[in-house]
Amino acid sequence: MKLAIIGSGNIVHDFLTITKDLKETQLTAIIGTNRSIDTLKQLQSEYHIGQVFTDFDEALKKSDFDTVYVAVPNFLHYQFAKKALENGKNVISEKPFTVKYEEFEDLKKIALEKHLILLEAITTQYLQNFLDLKKKLPELGDLKIIESNYSQYSSRYDAFKAGKILPAFDPKKGGGALMDLNIYNIHFIVGLLGRPKKVTYLPNVERNIDTSGILTLDYGTVKAVAIGAKDSVIPFRSSVIQGNHGSIVVNGPTNEMKSFDIYDNDKELVEKIDHNVYPHRMYQEFVEFERIIRTNDLQAVQQHLQHSEDVMWVVKKALESADLKLD
Ligand SMILES: NC(=O)c1ccc[n+]([C@@H]2O[C@H](COP(=O)([O-])OP(=O)(O)OC[C@H]3O[C@@H](n4cnc5c(N)ncnc54)[C@H](OP(=O)(O)O)[C@@H]3O)[C@@H](O)[C@H]2O)c1
Repeated sequence: MKLAIIGSGNIVHDFLTITKDLKETQLTAIIGTNRSIDTLKQLQSEYHIGQVFTDFDEALKKSDFDTVYVAVPNFLHYQFAKKALENGKNVISEKPFTVKYEEFEDLKKIALEKHLILLEAITTQYLQNFLDLKKKLPELGDLKIIESNYSQYSSRYDAFKAGKILPAFDPKKGGGALMDLNIYNIHFIVGLLGRPKKVTYLPNVERNIDTSGILTLDYGTVKAVAIGAKDSVIPFRSSVIQGNHGSIVVNGPTNEMKSFDIYDNDKELVEKIDHNVYPHRMYQEFVEFERIIRTNDLQAVQQHLQHSEDVMWVVKKALESADLKLD
C-alpha cells in the first residue's frame, strides 16, 4: 500500500509510531497545512516519508500513492475522502466516518461505482480481543444488557470553558462527546448486535454541543447503554455484557480492549482472554487495511461498510432524538 497521510495532529503522531512494523505500507506522502509545515517536515524526516505537500490537489497530481488516510478534524473527512475517491484513490477515514449520514452514503456510492476501497479506521472492529469476544457471546446465553462507558476529561474542555472553541467542541465541525468518544461504544455495540430498533440520546449540552451524554440502544430483547463524556472522568473505562448464563467484562477503553473476562452466574471467573497481537491498538486494523487493498477484497469492504452504515444510522437517530445539529 502506497499511503498518503492527510493531517499531522495527535492521531497521525500516534499512528506513525507503528509504521516501522507495517512492512507492506510505504509512506509515500504527508499532506497538511502551511501553518504546520515545520511539523510536516519533522515527521517526514523522522519517519522517512516520501514527499510533503500543503495542497491536496498538488499531491494528487505529483505523487503516486494509491491510498489516502484521512486524519483531519471530523468535518473535513467528507471533502477529503470524496476528492480522493474521485481521483481514483482508496480511502481510509478516521472516525467518525463523516458528520452526516448522507455524506457517508455519498462516499459509499462513489467508492462502489469506481470499485475503490473505502474503510473507516476504527480500532474496535479489528482488535483480536473484539473478534474473539464475538465468538464467546453464545456462552452468555440470552443477552440482556450491554453497558459501555468511554469518559475522558478533555484538556480541550478547559479551553472550551474559557471561551476558546476547538474542533472537538465545535458544533459546526462535527465535535462533541457523541462523535468523539461515544462513537467507540456505538461501534462496539453495533459490532456485536447490528442496527438497533430504537435510539435515544440524552446529552448534557453546553453552548450547543454535547459535552457528555447517555445513549440508549433498544434491540427488543436486549437493551444497551453507551456513555461518553469529555467533561468528566471515571477511573476506569470498560464495557459489560450481561446474559442469562453469565457476563463479560471488557478491561480498558472500548477502542483498546486490552483484555476481557468471562464470569458465570456465581460471579466466578471462567476465563480471562488477552489475545491482542500487538501493544498498539492501531496495528491490527492497518495490517487488515493493507491486506484488503492488496487482495482487492471487496467482500470485506462491503461488510465493513455495512457496519459503518449502521453506526452512522445510529448517530443520525441519536442527534435527531436530542435535536442536536452538527453543521
Ligand atoms: N483512532 C483514534 O484512536 C483517534 C484518536 C484521536 C483522534 N482520532 C480522529 O482523528 C481525527 C484527527 O484528530 P486529531 O486528534 O489528530 O486532531 P488534531 O490533533 O487537531 O489534528 C488535526 C490535523 O488536521 C490538520 N488539518 C486541519 N485542517 C486541514 C486541512 N484543511 N488540510 C490538511 N490538514 C488539515 C491540522 O493541521 P493544523 O494543526 O495546521 O490545523 C492537524 O494536523 C479526528 O477525526 C479524530 O476523531 C482518532
